[in-house]
Amino acid sequence: MADTPTILVLDSGLGGLTVLREIVKALPGARYVYVADDAFFPYGHHSEDEIIARVVPLVGELIDTYTPDLAVIACNTMSVSVLGPLRAAYSVPFVGTVPAIKPACAASKTKRVSVLGTRATVQREYTQALIRDHARACTVTLVGAAHLARLAEDALRGKPVSDADIVSEIAPCFVPAADGGALRTDAVVLACTHYPLLLDRLLRLAPWPVAWIDPAPAIARRVVDLLGPGDSGGREFPPEMIFTSGRSRTLTDALAPFFGGRVPA
Ligand code: DGL
Repeated sequence: MADTPTILVLDSGLGGLTVLREIVKALPGARYVYVADDAFFPYGHHSEDEIIARVVPLVGELIDTYTPDLAVIACNTMSVSVLGPLRAAYSVPFVGTVPAIKPACAASKTKRVSVLGTRATVQREYTQALIRDHARACTVTLVGAAHLARLAEDALRGKPVSDADIVSEIAPCFVPAADGGALRTDAVVLACTHYPLLLDRLLRLAPWPVAWIDPAPAIARRVVDLLGPGDSGGREFPPEMIFTSGRSRTLTDALAPFFGGRVPA
C-alpha cells in the first residue's frame, strides 16, 4: 500500500461529506477524490436496476482515472443497491455505508428503533436482511423520507428550509408507547448520509430526545483498519471535488467548513 493512499468517496450529492469529514479526521494525509453524482440525484427515487446500471460503469471510469487504493460508497441508497455488483466487478476494496441497525438496537433501552432513510433504502432487501439478522430483539419502524435529502442539500447551500418541512419527514420515526408507558422510540438510525447535515435541527425538532445513530465514525475506523494509519510526512491534500452535473464552483463556501476552512480543489 502506498504511504499516501488515494481514497475515492462517492455519494449522490453532498451527504457523503458527513462521511468524508470523519475519514479525513482519521487519515488526514490521504489523497481524497470526492465524487457527487448529482446529475442522478436523488438516488432515493431510483430503482435498484437503475442504480446498478448507473453506478457500475461510473465507478469503473473513476477507478481507471484515479487508481484508488480504496473506494468508500458514502451513500446508503447506493450501498444497499449496488455494493454486491461493485465487489463482483472490481478488485478495489469497497467500504459501504449501510443502515446502522445493529448499533442502534444495541444502544436502544426500549428496544424501539426507527430507521430513517430514503424510500429506496428502506425498501431494499439488503435493509430487510439487516433487520432480520441484527434486530430480532427490537421493534423496528422503517421510515422512507421522500424529501429530506433534498432539504439537507438546500440547507447546506444556504437556502431557507422550514421547520415544518423537516418535521413532516421525521415525525413517523417517533412511535409513542402503546399504553402511554415508557416503551417509545429511543434510537433513530440516520440511514442516509445527508441527514447528519441537519443534525442540529433534528435535535431541536424531535418531539422527545432520542439517540441519532450516525455510522460515519465506524466507517472511518473501517477505512483505517483496511489501509493502516498511512504516513504522508505530515502533508495534507485538499480533497478533489467532482460533480457529475459539472456545477461545482458555486459550492466553495458551503464546503469549506468540512475541510477546516481549506478550500477544496
Ligand atoms: N446520501 C444518500 C443516502 O445515503 C441519499 C440521497 C439521495 O436520495 O440521493 O442514502
